[in-house]
Amino acid sequence: MKKRLLSLMLTMGLGLSMLVGCGTTETASNSTQGGGSSSGSASGEIEVGIVLPTKDEPRWLQDQAQFEAILDDAGFTNQVLFSQGSSATEKTNVETLIAKGIKVLIICPQDATAAAAAVEEAKEAGVTVISYDRLITDTEAVDYYTTFDSFSVGVAQGQYLIDNAEGTNIPLYIYTGAATDNNAFIFFEGAWSVLEPKVADGTFVIANSDKAESFVGAGELTRDDEAQILGQTTTNWDFDTAKKLAEANLTAASADLKGDVAILAPNDGTGRAIADAFAADSDITSYIVTGQDSEKASVQYIIDGKQSMTVFKDTRTLAADSVAMALAVLKGESVPTTTTYNNGVIDVPAKQTDVVVVTKDNVKAALIDSGYYEASDFEGLE
Ligand code: BGC
Repeated sequence: MKKRLLSLMLTMGLGLSMLVGCGTTETASNSTQGGGSSSGSASGEIEVGIVLPTKDEPRWLQDQAQFEAILDDAGFTNQVLFSQGSSATEKTNVETLIAKGIKVLIICPQDATAAAAAVEEAKEAGVTVISYDRLITDTEAVDYYTTFDSFSVGVAQGQYLIDNAEGTNIPLYIYTGAATDNNAFIFFEGAWSVLEPKVADGTFVIANSDKAESFVGAGELTRDDEAQILGQTTTNWDFDTAKKLAEANLTAASADLKGDVAILAPNDGTGRAIADAFAADSDITSYIVTGQDSEKASVQYIIDGKQSMTVFKDTRTLAADSVAMALAVLKGESVPTTTTYNNGVIDVPAKQTDVVVVTKDNVKAALIDSGYYEASDFEGLE
C-alpha cells in the first residue's frame, strides 16, 4: 500500500514537474464568498478552481492544503473557495471561478443534487467538471469523479465493532451522515452489509432506530429504505446535531440498552461529539466508537482511548489524483480512471482510492511514518 502510494506520488511529481512554468506562481490574496485562497496570475485569470464544502471541518482544510501544495508546485494558477454549508454560496463560488476563466473545476458538493445547477453552468462555459470525494447526482454535467472507496469505509467501521464487541445482545447505536451527501448512504450500506447479519444472529440489538430494526432480515435495502434509517439517525455531518441526538437517544434508552455499548459513528467530528455524550452518561460502562478522516483531534482521542478507530483517507492521494486528471484535461491527454459511478443519469468515469483502518496500535505507522502528521502534533504518542 505504502509502496503504491509512493509510486503514485512519484509519478505525479514527475508529471507535475514537467509542467512547472505553465502558470505564474504570483500569489494574490483576495476576499471571496465563503473565504478561500488563491494563487493567481497578474491578470486575475485562474486555470483550476476548487470548491470545498466548509472550513468548519478539519477534513476539508486537509484537502485545501494538499491542493494548494500540489498546484502551486506545478505552477498552476488556482483558487480554493469554501461553500460554508450553503448551496447558494457554492453556486456563487462556481460563477466567480467561471468568470476568472477556469478550465477545470474540482468541486466537492455541499448537496449532491443542488450542485447540479452550478456544474451545468460550468459545463456551458466550457469547463471540465471533476466531482471530488462526493458525487454530484442527477446531471450529465460531471466529467470525472475522484473518490475514496466509501463502501469499504463503512465495512471497516462495522467490522471494527464486530471484532471488538464482546458477548451478545450488545446495544448498537447507529449514526449516519447528511442525507444530502451521496457518501452518507454508501458508508451506511458498507456498515449495514456486515452489521445486519450480526443483529440478525443476536450479537447486537439496535438501540436507537426502530426503522433500522424493521429492515433486519429484509435483504438489500433500497435508497428509500436507507433514507428512512437516515431520517432517524442523521447527524447532518454536524457536531452539535450529533451530540444532541446521542443525548436524546441516551435519555430515551432503557437500562438494557446501556452498559457496554457499540456505536457506529460516521466520521471523526461527529464521532467525538457522540463519544463525549456517551462518556458523560454514568449508566454507560464502556463504549466502542468508530470514525473516519483521521482528523488530528480524533487521533488524539484515539491515543487517549476516547475514540476507538478512524479510517484514514489520505487526502494527498485524492488531491493528487484530481490534479492528475486536471493536468490531463489541460494537456488534451486521456484522463486516468479506474472505474465508473452511476450518478442517477450517467456513468461517471472515476478514480477510486483505498482506505486504511487506524487504531491505537498502528497510529504511528499509518500517520506519522507516512509523513501525514508530525509526532509533535500529539501528546502521549508512543
Ligand atoms: C466525506 C467525509 C466527511 C463527511 C463530512 C463525506 O462526504 O467523505 O470524509 O467526513 O463528508 O464532511
